[in-house]
Formats: sequence, C-alpha cells, structure tokens
Amino acid sequence: MKHNIIITGGAGFIGSHVVRLFVNKYPEYNIINLDKLTYAGNLANLKDIEGKPNYKFVKMDICDFEGVMKLMQDEHVDGIIHLAAESHVDRSIKDPFTFAQTNVMGTLSMLQAAKLYWESLPEKWEGKRFYHISTDEVYGALELTHPQGIEPPFSTKASSGKNHLAYGDKFFTEDLKYQPHSPYSAAKASSDHFVRAFHDTYGMPTVVTNCSNNYGPYQFPEKLIPLFINNIRHRKPLPVYGKGENVRDWLYVVDHARAIDTIFHNGKIAETYNIGGFNEWKNIDIIHTLIRTVDRLLGRPEGADDDLITFVTDRAGHDMRYAIDSTKLQKELGWEPSLQFEEGIELTVKWYLDNQEWMDNVTSGGYMKYYEDMYANR
Ligand code: NAD
Ligand code: DAU
Repeated sequence: MKHNIIITGGAGFIGSHVVRLFVNKYPEYNIINLDKLTYAGNLANLKDIEGKPNYKFVKMDICDFEGVMKLMQDEHVDGIIHLAAESHVDRSIKDPFTFAQTNVMGTLSMLQAAKLYWESLPEKWEGKRFYHISTDEVYGALELTHPQGIEPPFSTKASSGKNHLAYGDKFFTEDLKYQPHSPYSAAKASSDHFVRAFHDTYGMPTVVTNCSNNYGPYQFPEKLIPLFINNIRHRKPLPVYGKGENVRDWLYVVDHARAIDTIFHNGKIAETYNIGGFNEWKNIDIIHTLIRTVDRLLGRPEGADDDLITFVTDRAGHDMRYAIDSTKLQKELGWEPSLQFEEGIELTVKWYLDNQEWMDNVTSGGYMKYYEDMYANR
C-alpha cells in the first residue's frame, strides 16, 4: 500500500534516522519531513537522501495549525509520525514555556489538523494513523535498589555484551501511572494524554510509544554522549552531574527507527508500546567507556584522559534510574535490538571522530547561519 506520510522533527536526531529509513526502504511512499529547524534541526543530517524523488522537506512550525492542515490536504496525507519536540531536560529547567508551547500546543495543533482533514474525507479514519513518539521519562524515576548491580532478568542483543547489569528490580511497563518530574517530561506526558484523548473522544486511529535514551550519529552535542565524545577529543572537562550514579537505559538510534517502522505498520490502534533494549548503564561507567574508546581510536595511552572527569552540581530534580520493559513489543510485534551496546558505542564514537566537520558546524552555529541565508530571500 502506498502512503503519504508527514514525519515531524525529521531534521533532528531520531527523526533524521526515521526519515532515512522510510525514504530508502519504501520508495513507493511519499515522505514529507515537516520541521521548524530550531537549534536542534539540521538538514546536514539528511544530505544523503535530499535528492530522492519520494522525499520532500517543508520548513514549518507544528504550532501552525492552518499551515499543517493545508499541507495535509495538498499531500493527501494518511499517516503522521510525530517526533517534533523540544527534547533537552536541562533546557526545560531554564525555559519551561517553550516546552509547553511546542510539546503540548504543537502536538494539539497536529492532532486537530489531522482530525479536521481526515474527518472531511468520505472514508474518514479508514487507513489513517497518527503515531506519537514519546519518552520513558513520563513514568518518572525508578529507585536504585541494587547500586552494585544484579544479573538482569531479561536479555536482548543490546544487553548481551560484557559487564551488563540491572540496578533495580522494577522496570517501566506500559500500565504504570505517569509521574513526570521535569518540565520536559511533564510536557511530553501532557502530549501523550492529548493523543489518547483524540482516540477516546473522536475515534482517531492513534498509537503511542515510549522509548529509552537513544545514542548514535547526528545527536546534538548538548546530550551526554556526543558532548562527552567531543570534549574528550578536545581534552575539555567532562561535567558529570552529581556523583555520576544515575542510570539510563540506552538504545542505538537505528534500532529505535526500526521499532518505529514496525509499529507504524503493525502496531494496534490505541495501544502503547515501550521501546528499549534492557540495557542499563550508570553514567560514570558510560563515561569511562567513552574515554577508553576515544583514547584507543585516537592512539592515546589508556587512562590519558581520565582526569577530564569533573563532578559538578547535580541537575535539579535529576531522575535516578530509567529502565524500560519492552517485553510487549518484542512478544507482540517481534521487534528486538540488532546491535550489542559495545558495538553501538564503537560505531558511535567512530562516527563522531570521523565527522568532525559536522560537529564543528554544529558547535560553531554555522549550520544555523546556512538556514538564515537560505530562507532570507524567500
Ligand atoms: P531533537 O531535539 O534532536 O530534534 C527535535 C526536532 O524537532 C528538531 O529537528 C527541531 O527542529 C524540530 N522541532 C522542534 N520544535 C519544532 C516545532 N515547533 N515545529 C516543527 N519542528 C520542531 O530531538 P530527538 O532527540 O531526535 O527526539 C525526537 C523525539 O523523540 C522527541 O519527541 C523526544 O521527546 C522523543 N524521544 C527522544 C529520546 C532521546 O533519547 N533523544 C528518547 C525517547 C523519546
Ligand atoms: O529517556 C529518554 C530521554 O533521554 C529523552 O526523552 C530525552 O529527550 C533525552 O534528552 C534523554 O534525556 P536525559 O536527560 O536522560 O539525557 P542527557 O543526555 O541529557 O543526560 C543523560 C544522563 O547524563 C543524565 O543522567 C544526565 C547526565 N549528564 C548529562 C549531561 C548533558 C551529565 O552528567 N552531564 C552532562 O553534561
């Protein structure tokens, strides 16, 4: 079946991997990347597919309800994969309004435009899908009941490498109540509720997924992994929040994109699926892994950069542990991660070291200048 799909936030980190996967895997689909190009949007992330006949970029704000609705009409859109959001917790602590505006009002604008357009068609909801991408952070934080780590109760390809442990006995399952702590996760939680409300109230065919921390190429270097790889390379301090004891559950971004593909096509309407690889790591252990990997790849002696670690004031309201239980997705839809964490980290570090030009362009702000010039004359 042919689809006309809007992917919002397609110029960002995860969105660019989703756009690339759909454009390459489904030449018969019409893929429209709708992105406002905030500081986090970078069209250089999609250079390899920008000339493909089944791909189109549209610079638009998801809050522009009328613009979105016209685009849906013009392109006969039958599917929406909604990733556009403000995504960085530290920024949300400084500027919660922007997060409410984009993540809540922006999602509402996408939902209402889709509702009005799809309801106006003779076949109405038939063959339509609104897929909302959310985060595990909506569930709040889990306790670190086993700070030394225990054998994980589950195993996947992602967690099959060395030194893999779980740090508590509870996991985020789909039936947990929402308990967001940061302005970012509160706004994402609110947007999830709006998506479910559109299903329950109007019958819109929706699906929601909540994923763990992603890592891989093209991530904006404000997030832990790309920031620290770049700092190690340039021998700059590594600001570790608190004691570095917080635990995150990491998934290679391409595996998240593969899960989105599976769920867009086969997920059940009105369902929620958690996405993750049962791959928990303490921040400090990840940081040591990054230092060892960067130093080895740059031919520096082992331990040469350990002294870059600098413990700084903790993030306000810092969630202690995230750990996703993705059993439902694995059992019902047969998805599982394709990479071991060690393989993914090696690929990721190599990618950032090999793509210094991309990194320099982002850290210098050069990519934003390019857009200013590009759109100044339109
Ligand atoms: P990102 O910050 O890298 O990219 C966000 C993209 O959205 C950018 O291209 C930006 O230009 C665009 N955008 C922002 N505001 C917009 C607006 N008003 N209109 C149109 N476009 C706008 O984010 P990411 O890390 O790729 O995350 C993508 C989605 O996945 C988010 O919804 C996030 O909550 C969710 N998520 C992220 C992770 C993670 O680890 N990064 C994990 C789980 C879920
Ligand atoms: O769990 C999914 C979430 O993962 C996504 O919804 C978010 O969009 C994404 O940003 C990510 O949130 P985190 O806050 O977990 O990611 P971040 O990379 O900012 O931080 C990871 C951990 O590292 C966290 O415990 C805070 C810590 N940290 C982060 C930075 C940037 C540091 O110790 N120092 C730092 O400089």
